[in-house]
Amino acid sequence: MRVVCRLLVLLPLAVIVGWMFGDVDCPADEIPSADAKFFREEVLPLLKESCQRCHGEKKQNSGLRLDSREAVLKGGQNGPAIVVGKPDQSLLMKVINHDGDIQMPPDEKLDDEEIAIFKKWIEKDAPWPVDKKKA
Ligand code: HEC
Repeated sequence: MRVVCRLLVLLPLAVIVGWMFGDVDCPADEIPSADAKFFREEVLPLLKESCQRCHGEKKQNSGLRLDSREAVLKGGQNGPAIVVGKPDQSLLMKVINHDGDIQMPPDEKLDDEEIAIFKKWIEKDAPWPVDKKKA
């Protein structure tokens, strides 16, 4: 009987401790796998193909890098490239829609589908899963 009593006390304790420390292994900003897949398969290839040769490791036109979430949020000379969750207020959307003086990419406008990928990505709060191997 005593053993059962102890177990009854320990069980809620274990739950509470688990709840308190559970976050350590599971950070709040963990990205749902569907969003990670969307980023890796759609957003990242587009950034690599169309943007990073001028906004990446080698060149940073307008002070802007588009090769990490932090860099995108920091932005370039005109401030943050995106407003998380708000494509309508994001400079990146404005420039790829050729809706102003700065038009990106400078040579050719992206397809509608490609523009929609960036819009969806910003709407989803711009998930950028970081791999052990660099994104
Ligand atoms: C061939 C080089 C080149 C490519 C490719 C390119 N950009 Fe740019 N980008 C520039 C230059 C140059 C500027 C500065 C333009 C200006 O100030 O008039 C700029 C400026 C910007 C800015 C404004 C930054 C600021 O704060 O002033 C954004 C946002 C931007 N680019 C996004 C993109 C995106 C998104 C892509 C890919 C879809 C892209 N660019 C592809 C050369 C490039």
